[in-house]
Amino acid sequence: MKRKQFLRSVGLGTGVLAMSPWLTSCLSVSETEPQGDFKNKLPLPGEISERSFDLSAAPAEIQLSESINLSGFQFNNTVPGPTIRHTRGSELNIRFNNDIGQESIIHWHGLIVPPEMDGHPRDVISSGTYNYHFRLDQRAGTYWYHPHPHRITGEQVYRGLAGFFIIEDEEEKDLNLPGGDYEIPLVIQDRRISETGQIIYNPSRPERMMTGFLGDTILVNGAPFPYHEVEPGLYRLRILNGSNARIYNLAFQNDLPFTVIGTDGGLLPEAIETSELLMAPGERADILIDLSNVANSTTQLISKPFDVPSGGGMMGMQNMMGSDGPEQGAAFTLMEFRVGDTTNQDVFDLPDRLAEVSFPNESSADRTRQILLSMEMMSGHTINGRLFEMERVDERVAQGSTEIWEFVNNSNVPHPMHVHAVQFKVLDRSGTRGLIPTESGWKDTVLVMPGETVRTIMKFDAQKGMYVFHCHNLEHEDNGMMANLEIV
Ligand code: C2O
Ligand code: CU
Ligand code: CU
Repeated sequence: MKRKQFLRSVGLGTGVLAMSPWLTSCLSVSETEPQGDFKNKLPLPGEISERSFDLSAAPAEIQLSESINLSGFQFNNTVPGPTIRHTRGSELNIRFNNDIGQESIIHWHGLIVPPEMDGHPRDVISSGTYNYHFRLDQRAGTYWYHPHPHRITGEQVYRGLAGFFIIEDEEEKDLNLPGGDYEIPLVIQDRRISETGQIIYNPSRPERMMTGFLGDTILVNGAPFPYHEVEPGLYRLRILNGSNARIYNLAFQNDLPFTVIGTDGGLLPEAIETSELLMAPGERADILIDLSNVANSTTQLISKPFDVPSGGGMMGMQNMMGSDGPEQGAAFTLMEFRVGDTTNQDVFDLPDRLAEVSFPNESSADRTRQILLSMEMMSGHTINGRLFEMERVDERVAQGSTEIWEFVNNSNVPHPMHVHAVQFKVLDRSGTRGLIPTESGWKDTVLVMPGETVRTIMKFDAQKGMYVFHCHNLEHEDNGMMANLEIV
């Protein structure tokens, strides 16, 4: 067997090794229950590269594995939906056909498009076609698409409607990152399975108002406990947490190190090596994993247990109230990589600088806005004390202005906050946790743990009009933890 070191890191020596802020008890992976026997081959979504195409949502009865059935919806007859892949500068015409028998509209998460192309919930159609036309005018990155109707987004995503949207550009191509079979999109979603093997979505009132809907079984690309056969080489994994409410602390078995190269808004300025990575619903991570270290063997992608800090005085309330599934922070096994013993892949040099990125300077901010996230006894989680109303403008920002948005979580549960129409930079987070590796890049979704204040900076360059921002815990969003953002 030929053993190669694939990732010849030019730049990793210079002190960008991220220390885990989540050193949780001392639970090692071997202490977590072995789950599943990896009988299912990892499904890989098909790709759409045409510039003009149909995206058709329809009801579906799908057998996801020997024992799990989904009575749900699908895009273009597949779950997950097809991966849309295009280069920067492309102009797209997409016909969204809604055949699911419910109101819906598609949102392109992370893309910056005109307001009427963004999937604002007031643009829902109950059937027929909505025509999208927009130009991809932003950095290469791993984006995604999903429905966005008010009150039923959680159900529609849960029951099958979501897919990747990948943008490529020249800057990224020049890096020669692993591609083809060496580039794997992974969407991670937890599901609750009934005794008869049906995927069920029936959040209780406390689940809507408190925890969100937490599942007991994790699907990767729609399959429970899948395996994937790989070479002992370097792989690029584009990971999306497409779960409604569950946060993962991703790692490989035996703490195999991996390299974070990108996040929501594309490549990081510099690669960061780590052995675990926290990902909240809606967030993406682009990582490199060197499987030559486990040639002729296997390694599992897992989620390590982590602590959810308790915010206000109601300690442990999120676990006492609400969810039937394993609690937030529980350990999971996600999938297995079966590593062969030969490859012809070339050695890859990872440069010091991945991309030229210039974030707005704090001193350039025109104003600071405080976004208060709190739990109101009767209504559930609110933004600045209010629930969503379709036509009420909550925040009005001047086009071209730079603002600091300070998310303050006064509640007992995590809120992954997502803003449409911008990519932002996380400035800092209160407390001891610091920034997560993905937060060194452009973000559109940021995890705000109970008790934390997270400051972000963003410049509003999108077209004028109405967009939304919201919590990406989809039960929270559906329950009204969303607000209108108007660019004027
Ligand atoms: Cu991914 Cu407004 O959502
Ligand atoms: Cu979005
Ligand atoms: Cu929330």
